[in-house]
Amino acid sequence: MRSNKLVVTGAGHVGSQVLTEALHMGLFGEIAVIDTNESVAVGEALDSLQATGAPHMAAIDVHSGGIEDYKNADVVICAAGPSIIPDPDDPTGRPDRSLVTTVNSKVIRQVMGDIASQTREAIVILITNPLDTMVYIAENEFGYPPDRVFGTGTMLDSTRLRQIIAAHCMVAPSSVQGYMMGEHGLTAFPVLSRLTVGGYRFDELPAVFPINPDLSADDIREEVVQAAYDVFNSKGWTNAGIAQSAVSLARTVMLDERAIHPVCSTLRGEYGHLDDVALSMPCIIGRNGIERRLPVELNAWESAHLETTIAQIRATMVEAGT
Ligand code: LAC
Repeated sequence: MRSNKLVVTGAGHVGSQVLTEALHMGLFGEIAVIDTNESVAVGEALDSLQATGAPHMAAIDVHSGGIEDYKNADVVICAAGPSIIPDPDDPTGRPDRSLVTTVNSKVIRQVMGDIASQTREAIVILITNPLDTMVYIAENEFGYPPDRVFGTGTMLDSTRLRQIIAAHCMVAPSSVQGYMMGEHGLTAFPVLSRLTVGGYRFDELPAVFPINPDLSADDIREEVVQAAYDVFNSKGWTNAGIAQSAVSLARTVMLDERAIHPVCSTLRGEYGHLDDVALSMPCIIGRNGIERRLPVELNAWESAHLETTIAQIRATMVEAGT
């Protein structure tokens, strides 16, 4: 048995990219791939195993698996379930969000039930959408140790935010410190009151960088949300950014980095909400999963958007039967 075991549940576009990112990171000695379509799981595992033959690759035991693989897993990354389902009654093929919620609530209840039947140790990182509601179900319906289940949340939204601000300022995205909070997707909001570029606050940027001084928080929020749809509308799904977010979280766990990332978990009293909603805020991530939530103080615009995002998530939770 190799050290450091990852289980990837769901071998679609996202799960396949998670597998690729995990292989190249070289941190897991064993990777099991689980999918309801066993043939796809076998094919993804074989494809990856053959890739380990390259000179620069680590010797990783990649194989298809089953629920017994959860028993000794260190990390589980779950991307099971469809990301979008076209509305059957809409000839334009518009996605049906509530249908995804209904379908994926069943998927997550099945997956989390399987995991909880085998272990209480693995750190579970959820990707499946609607992410915040899926995290709430997984965290609160199976008696799994709190904070060992969390979601990628607004980590990808924050990556998009930093790339957008960097483009406006004509600097490298790595020089932008900042994040989105709230729901992953439609109602996520930027915390510009705490965003910096090279140490300059957001309100100082126009004096230093070529960013439009009239660019508002609403404009930026809409740019970030639209960035996801630009990818969906072009190729039909997204996988590169989300897989990178999930695998870098897995590394933060395995190395006990105690890095701060905006991930999704159930509020335990933060912002006046106790166990009634899951959303993203900055958290310290380490070997035990979420080590600590950091409920940063928000300005008036951000606080208003926090309430908006909570209302949206709770509406989705109702659809999911939570
Ligand atoms: C996205 C998917 C992962 O935002 O929800 O790309």
